[in-house]
Amino acid sequence: MSRIDALLEAMTLPEKLGQLTMTASSYAVTGPVIAGDSTESIRNGTLGNLLNMVGAAHVHEMQRLAVEHSRLKIPLLIGLDVIHGHRTLFPVPLAEAGTFDPELWWRTAREAALEAAADGLAMTFAPMLDVSRDPRWGRGVEGPGEDGWLATRIAEAKVKGFQGGDGSSLASAGSLAAVAKHYCAYGPVTAGREYAAVDISERALREVYLPAFDAAVAAGVAAVMPAFTDLAGIPLTAHVELLQGHLRGRLGFEGVIVSDYNAIGELVRHGIAADLTEAAALALKAGVDIDMMAEAYRRGLPVALERGLVRLEEIDAAVVRVLTLKERLGLFDDPYRRGATPDPPDALTRRRRLARDVAMRAVVMLKNAADTLPLPADVKRLALVGPLADAPAEMRGPWWAAGEARDHVSVLAGLRRALGETRVLHAPGVDIEGTGTQGIAVALDAVRQADATVLCVGEAAVMSGEAASRAHLGLPGQQQALVEAVCECARSLGRPVVAVLFSGRPLVVPALIERADAVLAAWFLGCEAGNALADLLTGRASPSGRTAISWPRAAGQIPIFFGERPSGRPANPQDHFTSKYLDVANEPQFVFGHGLTYGRFALANLRVAPARAREADVIEVQVDVTNTGARAAEETVFVFTHDVVASVTRPLLELRAFAKAPLRPGESTTLTLHVPAAALAVLGIDLRPRFEPGEIEVLVGPCADRAQLLMSRIELVAG
Ligand code: NOJ
Repeated sequence: MSRIDALLEAMTLPEKLGQLTMTASSYAVTGPVIAGDSTESIRNGTLGNLLNMVGAAHVHEMQRLAVEHSRLKIPLLIGLDVIHGHRTLFPVPLAEAGTFDPELWWRTAREAALEAAADGLAMTFAPMLDVSRDPRWGRGVEGPGEDGWLATRIAEAKVKGFQGGDGSSLASAGSLAAVAKHYCAYGPVTAGREYAAVDISERALREVYLPAFDAAVAAGVAAVMPAFTDLAGIPLTAHVELLQGHLRGRLGFEGVIVSDYNAIGELVRHGIAADLTEAAALALKAGVDIDMMAEAYRRGLPVALERGLVRLEEIDAAVVRVLTLKERLGLFDDPYRRGATPDPPDALTRRRRLARDVAMRAVVMLKNAADTLPLPADVKRLALVGPLADAPAEMRGPWWAAGEARDHVSVLAGLRRALGETRVLHAPGVDIEGTGTQGIAVALDAVRQADATVLCVGEAAVMSGEAASRAHLGLPGQQQALVEAVCECARSLGRPVVAVLFSGRPLVVPALIERADAVLAAWFLGCEAGNALADLLTGRASPSGRTAISWPRAAGQIPIFFGERPSGRPANPQDHFTSKYLDVANEPQFVFGHGLTYGRFALANLRVAPARAREADVIEVQVDVTNTGARAAEETVFVFTHDVVASVTRPLLELRAFAKAPLRPGESTTLTLHVPAAALAVLGIDLRPRFEPGEIEVLVGPCADRAQLLMSRIELVAG
């Protein structure tokens, strides 16, 4: 008899339900329910899983209670939201998406896993794979941006990185079980309002929101977390078709489904369960194995069993899945494996170096009029103004796991290190929020004494992330007044202003973009933020990040994304009855993929073969890239397609591939990218995949602006 079968036979109902329960330690609270002390439940075997613990000593202390004092000695599964680093924080996921570098996506997940596992943890509630096309929604910061295909690439890299997909197994001391979340279609919440209901088409679900989860499952993800939200009348926590039908059935997912925080209890508020018992029964029937923080399984399932709402076999099946994950993680063989040996001394140095490199690559240079950047070497004095100039804690972004504010390099610290103490004049001017404007005068004094100004403005870290929707997407507080005063003053002196914009979403700041000479989108860059920004500002490195989400000009354009479907009346300024606004352009301020560098790139000689592609073919796309500028830089090249005539309408552009070319001044290279022809299949009228013969436009270039893309045509042929 296997270990798991033997355990199952020996377990009482309370012990089984304990394995299906996850409770927060008091280390960190990530929801409205605060758990009391769990030690007694661990000791008596009625609690099998914990979240929010940090520190190997604490984790092992809890683990010891389970494996040395509980009757059946089943180890605990302990998880934390290790979203973009554990102690060493990397850029927030939306920023990291814009590096368009699968190797980096993988490496940061790998390092985060090594660091978190060295702290005793065995699970991370990541990667977050929710496509977001609505910057009002704060959680876009945690995810892959606006494109469903890009999300699939990130899903693969992250799952393999967290779970040790470099050859080591889930059982190794440096691996975490990844949790693909939030399954699915959480991004299009009504009006961008957090936790609100979602109502999207089946086609959008399958074309845009599901593929990343399919990719995570294909990459072997250990667990999946259903979204809090209601999808067209069915909350995901109780979604039988999506959890049992698609995930477990069609995808063959055998891992664990862990609910979101109190999500089972919230089925009562959603109005599909009368009480906790019904809620527990609905979630279990849908396939949710672990109840995070609702107490629904421990309290509700015994009653549900009595009422005949669930069967013991359904409980047992969930218990087996949880125990199997614990076994795969090696927890039965050695529950103290993770956290047994501290990180080797060079690991931190390696991670900080990686953090600086990724941060540097994640910054998107939105504007650089008259080559304002990099700052000329003869800048004697620099004014560093704005509430985010010396804000180390904000650099962490809205999730920080075990990251300490004191380990974060502010822009002030980074620039002082790069330029010397005396060359940087610092004045915050205003707070991030609040009404005070008294500090603006001091900031203007600094601007007057300096050759150039760096203006650090934006959101506080907690203004994005969970429960952080915003209806106004401008600069909070009095920052706009600061921007206006600084830009006005600098202009009157004929000196440049470089804006560094911190945010967890694209901000709607047309006036800032108009007035500043250069603008860097710095998102939240993690522990090396200040050093990375100093590298870019001083020209030690060139910006190379590209925005993975469109930047609107006006909040009224939202949702805005490049993969829109054609209108029967495309915008035409000459024709009143066409698809446009009366008061703002249709185009975003910055399209998906936008991002300038210190180089200048020319793309030429697009070749696409074969000219007639069958389903089994791989389409090869080649393009010559030359850096015609005066500085070394890295170009990112995207391949899009457009299916001209299909049985259903197709988006105007569909992302298919990307590649990067680091080039010295004057240097050229040929990039070769591949697109499997089968990927061009469409979901037909019946939503089944069909490989449809016909013309395909292949568009290649630096961003999702058709005017900047080279185009070639091929034909798909049957056979
Ligand atoms: C709620 C969030 O929605 C989820 O992403 C997170 O993993 C849990 N809280 C646990 O912190």
